Amino acid sequence: MAKRKTSDSMELVLEESDAGNWVYKGEGAANIVLGGYNGSNPHFVGKVIRIQKAPRSKTQSATTSVLSVHENLLWRDIEGISASSTKEIVGQLYVKNVIIPLLGSEHVDTGMHILVSRQFLEAVENNIFCQRPAWRVDASKVNPLCDSALLISDHSIFPDGIVNVSPYISVEIKPKCGFLPNSRFIAEANAVKRTISRFQMHQVLKLHQGEISCVSDYDPLDLFSGSIGKINKAIKELFTTPQNNFRIFLNGSLISEGMAGTIDSTRSVAGGEFEDTLEGIIRADRGFRLNSFLQLVAETILISGVLDQLLDAQQLDLIDIEGAIHAYYNVISQHCKVCGEWGDSKVSKRCSPLHSLSLEDSLKIVRDYMIAATAKDCSLMLSFRPKMDEDQMSLHNTVYLESINQRFDYKAYFIDLDMKPLKKMVHYYELDQKIVSCYTQKEKMKYEPPNLMNRNEYEIIDSHFNVAGNSRDESMLSDGP
Ligand SMILES: Nc1ncnc2c1ncn2[C@@H]1O[C@H](COP(=O)(O)OP(=O)(O)O)[C@@H](O)[C@H]1O
Ligand SMILES: [Mg+2]
Repeated sequence: MAKRKTSDSMELVLEESDAGNWVYKGEGAANIVLGGYNGSNPHFVGKVIRIQKAPRSKTQSATTSVLSVHENLLWRDIEGISASSTKEIVGQLYVKNVIIPLLGSEHVDTGMHILVSRQFLEAVENNIFCQRPAWRVDASKVNPLCDSALLISDHSIFPDGIVNVSPYISVEIKPKCGFLPNSRFIAEANAVKRTISRFQMHQVLKLHQGEISCVSDYDPLDLFSGSIGKINKAIKELFTTPQNNFRIFLNGSLISEGMAGTIDSTRSVAGGEFEDTLEGIIRADRGFRLNSFLQLVAETILISGVLDQLLDAQQLDLIDIEGAIHAYYNVISQHCKVCGEWGDSKVSKRCSPLHSLSLEDSLKIVRDYMIAATAKDCSLMLSFRPKMDEDQMSLHNTVYLESINQRFDYKAYFIDLDMKPLKKMVHYYELDQKIVSCYTQKEKMKYEPPNLMNRNEYEIIDSHFNVAGNSRDESMLSDGP
């Protein structure tokens, strides 16, 4: 490992020989995360590194500009953004200037930009190959052409925790969108969006496309409800059907699989085993610990109020994608494809005033929509450590679980707060239409006996939703709101 002098600071550089000090921690659609550093550099202890991935199907170039012309326009108020030379720097500026003012610095960590050599990335790629889920390996790899990465605190650990003395447990929750849209630009045919949560409707499409084997009863509206009974229900559902919305870490190591294993794996940790895992953390008899633990998570969500700020950020999406898509076409100065498709209809008439908005107003709508998209797609890490000495002063917040008369230190951090690419607006619009249309068709089928239904309707659904196609790849790369 070396330190390299750059124009304004001394930067840490990871070389080939450093690769063995890191282990695979997890990954999403866009990044691979390494943790568990066991080397001697104090800068890396208790940290994770987040490295960009590249799709296997395309050869990615490191030299393409970080932001497009229109993205530069959209985010021009962020100081230094247009001069940013890497995605990591753009990401940090975005978190610092846009996200922290909304979510608060107490729950967000901007991280630090570090340099990585190509040999380091290649060594990492080889080392982690076997731990990565096969379907992720098929789709993407570490981007070997990217020379920087992000160093962030490992939010699944307590930095000052001595494992043997005080074990700790963390959960990662991907809450998704916690409110129902109420925009006048929503077409009548899509009115169901006003009453059923986006997550619930998306489950139906995912089931139809074979991405999941059963729908989850988790509803983000419960999690964000501010009512302890509903939050409890939401956490129980997440535990039962984690998909990629819930993970558990014990002393910093992942112990639940979620979607990690196979396409269809919606495995949760086995209840009985988990009762044993919780021994030493939850002071309750075997058989009662799981319930108390889930209650602890729910209670912390309620008393910390962290989701209140997240909900405010999500609600920057004021006019729904059905309105914002029109502003997007204004921003990129292109003829609106949506108005084109709807022709002379009511929808097109209702939305046409959006095309008379000034560029400034259009930029604001799109910017707010993109910020909300980040807030709908991020995760929350909550970590708990039992307080051994009740009188001991704590550097952390504490939560008291009355049912078992036990107090815990806790930490709450948001992760995965990336800026979304502007061109994803088109994908967001198309996915939204697909989700609603699949949901309404399926609902219709529930109430109309199949033999009375026009045979073609089934064929239309299947061709429209690409049942046999590789829908997984598409959804994986676009874990949209
Ligand atoms: N700061 C962190 N501390 C602990 N675990 C992390 C941290 N950042 C990411 N992870 C783990 O790595 C996974 C992938 O990271 P994420 O930022 O969500 O990638 P992506 O942008 O591809 O979705 C997360 O789901 C989480 O389990
Ligand atoms: Mg993620």
